[in-house]
Amino acid sequence: FETMNINNLGNLEIGNCDTVELAKEFGTPLYVVDEELVRYNCKLFKDSFKIEDIDTEVIYASKAFLNLAMCKIIEEEGLSLDVVSGGELYTALKANFPSNRIYMHGNNKTQDELILAIESGVGRIVVDNRQELELVEYLCEELGEEVNVLLRVNPGIDAYTHEYIQTSKNDSKFGESIYSRDIFWIIDRFQRSNRLNLKGFHCHIGSQIFEEKSFYSSILVMLEFVSKIERKCNFITEELNIGGGFGVRYTEEDNTIDLKTCLKKMILLIKETTSNMNIKTPKIMIEPGRAIIANAGITLYEIGGTKNTYGGKHYIFVDGGMTDNPRTALYGAKYEAVVANKINLENSQIYTVAGKCCESGDIIIKDIQLPKVEKNDILAVFSTGAYNYSMSSNYNRIPRPAVVFVRDGEARLAVRRETYEDIIKNDILF
Ligand code: LLP
Repeated sequence: FETMNINNLGNLEIGNCDTVELAKEFGTPLYVVDEELVRYNCKLFKDSFKIEDIDTEVIYASKAFLNLAMCKIIEEEGLSLDVVSGGELYTALKANFPSNRIYMHGNNKTQDELILAIESGVGRIVVDNRQELELVEYLCEELGEEVNVLLRVNPGIDAYTHEYIQTSKNDSKFGESIYSRDIFWIIDRFQRSNRLNLKGFHCHIGSQIFEEKSFYSSILVMLEFVSKIERKCNFITEELNIGGGFGVRYTEEDNTIDLKTCLKKMILLIKETTSNMNIKTPKIMIEPGRAIIANAGITLYEIGGTKNTYGGKHYIFVDGGMTDNPRTALYGAKYEAVVANKINLENSQIYTVAGKCCESGDIIIKDIQLPKVEKNDILAVFSTGAYNYSMSSNYNRIPRPAVVFVRDGEARLAVRRETYEDIIKNDILF
């Protein structure tokens, strides 16, 4: 956790801000984002995923973490944006994100979402399947518009990751299989369309992937497909989006991907393979979400109390839980944490960190070595930047935490803490 350090009061600092002070000023639970690290990660992707003679583009998968402030940072860093719903698209538009740099995804976009996408002039709509092609075309006719599209295909690559976040097995809900016979028909159908301008293909094989070879296999399979489509349909692929999924380190147990090397290898492989196959190298896009934001975020909780069970467990109760971080309950995800105001591990013991929701599965960390904690200590859980805030809920009518961005000793509120008033604002009493 290079971007964090311990100050002379012995407290954890992030972006040169004392986390204990942050907790006091903004309340807990609190999502804290290290802006420098987000920007560093964006640059790393942009700088590593490029090579002479090939046009490349890095698209941030906004499902990992999105709000107006994040849109602005992504825009300033020159990345494009992948949105997967009307809500994500609306957020991007409200932040004045250039619409031609927005990619509209989703396996079941509603008519309203598509209309918003078409009317706001998004750069690409990623058409998921045959039926959606018809719908997008129909809507374009109605609106008198034309759109540039990519077709999402499924290369059938096994990515070694949690079953819930594998997306590219043959019977996945996403995309049309590159092995299906329909694919030729679909491409032909696009070619005959006056409204839809097929630029190329999109695939995404899964998330939190450490096996670099999964990325290389997917590239090879996709380029093979591109070449086949050129031969069989006389269709030249101008753009190829190979998705995201780069794994990040949550705990010591996790492997790491050396991103710089992996990205360089990917791009070299593309250059080499297209040249060997004698096909034109398409523009290549990648779509990282987690790898941009996961490690840049931490969550601060206040410890409300502890309990030692008859069975011998030592619980720490925090003032949040599966409502702000459902990943442990959902995927068995693992996290590291420290007591922000007691960094050293004197008198440490193994604790289970539990939340305040009415559910036994409401655990943030199963077993973690921490110093003896007391009520009102501040717990900092690391690497909670991705898929925490974005997957948060109001279960038990718990308001969502605030989000602050920190940088150079300065903290800026990016999302206000929800209030009880927010909790009932859509309720109707009759
Ligand atoms: N592109 C597409 C089409 C995707 O479906 C995803 C993630 C990404 C890009 C970004 O993947 P990343 O680089 O973040 O791995 N909620 C789960 C993760 C679900 C990922 C869904 N799609 C979790 O908390 O682990």
